Amino acid sequence: MAIKRDGHFVTFGQHIQEQQQQFPNASGQFSWLLSGITLATKMIASYVRRAGLIDVWGDEGSTNVQGEEVKKLDIIANDALKRTLGYRGNVGIIASEEDDEPRVLQEVDDDDSYIIMFDPLDGSSNIDVNVSVGTIFTIFRNPKDIKGAEKSVLQPGSAQVAAGYVLYGSSTVLVYTCGHGVHQFTLDPQFGAYLLTREHMKMPEHAGTYSVNEAYLHSFPEPYQRYLHWSKHPEGGGYSSRYVGSLVADFHRILVKGGIFMYPPTTKQPAGKLRLMYECNPLAFIAEQAGGSAIGAGGQRVLDVMPQDVHDRTPLVIGSSRNVEEAMRFINEPVRA
Ligand code: AHG
Ligand code: MN
Ligand code: MN
Repeated sequence: MAIKRDGHFVTFGQHIQEQQQQFPNASGQFSWLLSGITLATKMIASYVRRAGLIDVWGDEGSTNVQGEEVKKLDIIANDALKRTLGYRGNVGIIASEEDDEPRVLQEVDDDDSYIIMFDPLDGSSNIDVNVSVGTIFTIFRNPKDIKGAEKSVLQPGSAQVAAGYVLYGSSTVLVYTCGHGVHQFTLDPQFGAYLLTREHMKMPEHAGTYSVNEAYLHSFPEPYQRYLHWSKHPEGGGYSSRYVGSLVADFHRILVKGGIFMYPPTTKQPAGKLRLMYECNPLAFIAEQAGGSAIGAGGQRVLDVMPQDVHDRTPLVIGSSRNVEEAMRFINEPVRA
């Protein structure tokens, strides 16, 4: 149910203004920047909702820097974000999963300049089969003292100023944090506005659901295999399994209902498949703000990982704090001889 304050709905813009009041030194620039993202996601939602009626199914024909077949909707979403962010005067640099290099939008020398990185369309393989897809974004400050976009973007996730995602699911929901809790908005197609529907979200401490692509089980490192064997065993966790194949959909379920998601290293992707900067960092920021946790390679907190490249990949274990603790007891165990 949409939340009301003094009898009125709360839009995303109003919520950001309220949050701004907590940062006396922040100008209105930040809310102006976020409004660029929300505008792009409304455009993307309108394409996603008309897939099949307009030509957005299938491959666009090229391969991206990730080595993946680019879908038509990947390009549409990427263009929508670049177009709307291009007109927000305080966006210095953007980086996208779909672009080889970060891009300087404008040289900026004032303090109120930001870097935005995004996965414009997450879960692309699900577009043609009408399964939920998403957009993930993260915002950093643009450091004045670092020259070169490719270096400015290499900041640890703990430096994020804000992060969020939009899930184009049964309804279109936007979830974001700017370090003061996690809040959810639902797009009201009648108003074309995101209205507040959940505030200060807290991830359940534990739940009996795990989420992983078990097709790769035999190529996961042995400790992950032992955890997964335990998690489904009647004398172990006795958990059930859910896996959508769109990270945003799998994560949102865990944010609301609890549980654990993992994408371990595989023989095909020994560094993990998911991207650190614009998939794992934003979700890790949200998870921790909601009381959950997110672990990367070597048992390290995702938000502490120092990136080497904008397209770095990382293994990911994310979700309810006690579920992640359980899994890490197996994963951190020395490999048995
Ligand atoms: P993207 O569509 O942005 O490339 O992301 C797809 C990711 C993520 O959404 C999902 O969790 C994962 O790929 C699924 O990978 P598998 O198909 O290997 O399970
Ligand atoms: Mn993705
Ligand atoms: Mn993507």
